[in-house]
Amino acid sequence: RPVILSGMQPSSGSLHLGNYLGALGNWVRMQQDYDAYFFVVDLHAITVPQDPDALRAATRATAAQYIAAGIDPQQSTLFIQSHVPAHAELAWVLNTLTGFGEAARMTQFKDKSAKHGTDAASVGLFTYPILMSADILLYQADAVPVGDDQRQHLELTRDLATRFNSRFGETFVVPEAFIGKEGARIYDLQHPTAKMSKSAESDAGLIRVMDEANVTKKKIMRAVTDADGEIRFDREAKPGIANLLTIFATMTGRTTDSLVEEFAGGGYGDLKKALVEVVTERLGAIRTRTLELLDDPAELDRTLGAAADRANERAEATLATVYDRIGLLRRP
Ligand code: TYM
Repeated sequence: RPVILSGMQPSSGSLHLGNYLGALGNWVRMQQDYDAYFFVVDLHAITVPQDPDALRAATRATAAQYIAAGIDPQQSTLFIQSHVPAHAELAWVLNTLTGFGEAARMTQFKDKSAKHGTDAASVGLFTYPILMSADILLYQADAVPVGDDQRQHLELTRDLATRFNSRFGETFVVPEAFIGKEGARIYDLQHPTAKMSKSAESDAGLIRVMDEANVTKKKIMRAVTDADGEIRFDREAKPGIANLLTIFATMTGRTTDSLVEEFAGGGYGDLKKALVEVVTERLGAIRTRTLELLDDPAELDRTLGAAADRANERAEATLATVYDRIGLLRRP
């Protein structure tokens, strides 16, 4: 069976609606048809300053949200990145194959480091995309379901795989990005031309999976729209309404056209109210299940441990081949 693989950062303890609609929802739908590997990227999370206790809690909470959203840990391999040492080991090898200028072109680093200045950014943040390439290539993944913002990192991964293969012989599968038609880019509810992100300056534009329903309701009802009062899908002229329609469509599997048809006669308030229902119902169920899972951390850890064993087996096999191909002496 073809292999899919993807991961998310644990940084804040709650995923947001962009993570869910851009990635996690697709993972859940795809897991039946693929040999699937999903993990929490705790090694990526430490590329920016973080609190150790908060990171531990957020890592468990993220794994619990995967399961609560529908990832079946019996069917898919759900693990924690740092439980598989080969990620860091392959990342080192790939570091030596990546050009400095090539890494410097990654726009996510430019965006993230611009905030505090490149001097304050860690070298780990700079090489972040190379660790991500290692994550993917270790499992020989065919497809990587992610949101649109990861496109450039996937291109780097493909370049590194192709480079390694041509220099040292066919070793890696060259992976494809799987980016959904709807939901690949969810925008901030207050700044609907900026992507929804946990690092946004205001909280009001960010819908968190773990927020209580009344918080989510308030954020949706206060979402920025525009003054013309007309419901139609126009990303350029009406980014706020376009974003709400996209969220609605991705949540329900409906088309934005059919939603426009249904809501065109009414005001923005009716559209928002209907969206509140849809979003709070879905996220409420995920939140409740997540809290249940977090009530029994020992059981969750057992699940993660068993998956780490399976992941290690696959990852170590790839790493051994890589070490051999590049000429590292086999340990006697
Ligand atoms: P992260 O943690 O920033 O985001 C996790 C996933 O959510 C998607 N996403 C969005 N989709 C739509 N609209 C948005 N506003 C939005 N915000 C985030 C992201 O595209 C991503 O799919 N580098 C990755 C984590 C990673 C990874 C990997 C992914 C590390 N190793 C290997 C795939 C394979 C990241 O920071 O995602």
